[in-house]
Amino acid sequence: MENKRREFLKNVCPSVALAFFGVTMLEACSSGGEDSETPGNGGGGSNNDKGYTVSGNTVVITLSNSNFSSLNSNGWINFGAEAMLILKIDASTYRTFTNVCPHQGNTSQWSYNTSQDRFVCGAHNNTYPTDCSTSGTAGGPLKCFTTSLKDGKLTVIKS
Ligand code: FES
Repeated sequence: MENKRREFLKNVCPSVALAFFGVTMLEACSSGGEDSETPGNGGGGSNNDKGYTVSGNTVVITLSNSNFSSLNSNGWINFGAEAMLILKIDASTYRTFTNVCPHQGNTSQWSYNTSQDRFVCGAHNNTYPTDCSTSGTAGGPLKCFTTSLKDGKLTVIKS
């Protein structure tokens, strides 16, 4: 009985728990089950300031946001906060990949070789085609995510 009560109090919103003890609070609970986040470049600001939102395994990126300007200028970006590489094929086509290297899992040493159309992982200099199916020089293909573009927003389903 004591364990059930403790478990209940651990899981309920604090204002509900306080109400049980006769304390009133005007603060609303946030939903602990909601899987949204607003991580980004240093904290603060709204989702719109960061240029993307996350809900479950879906990431929606506002391409015009300055946080993604290097995607336009360089043609690709390692979007580390969401563990993905984004490659601009043309103005209306983007492709996204995991940034976890198929070889040994490095996530931060990527570059893109334009002439070979391959991502290069600098950890051991293995290279990976961008067609989502052809194996790289070690560890298999670079996994792709389902990606769509509409009204300047890129929707990526990470799965
Ligand atoms: S971890 Fe990427 S090449 Fe080895």
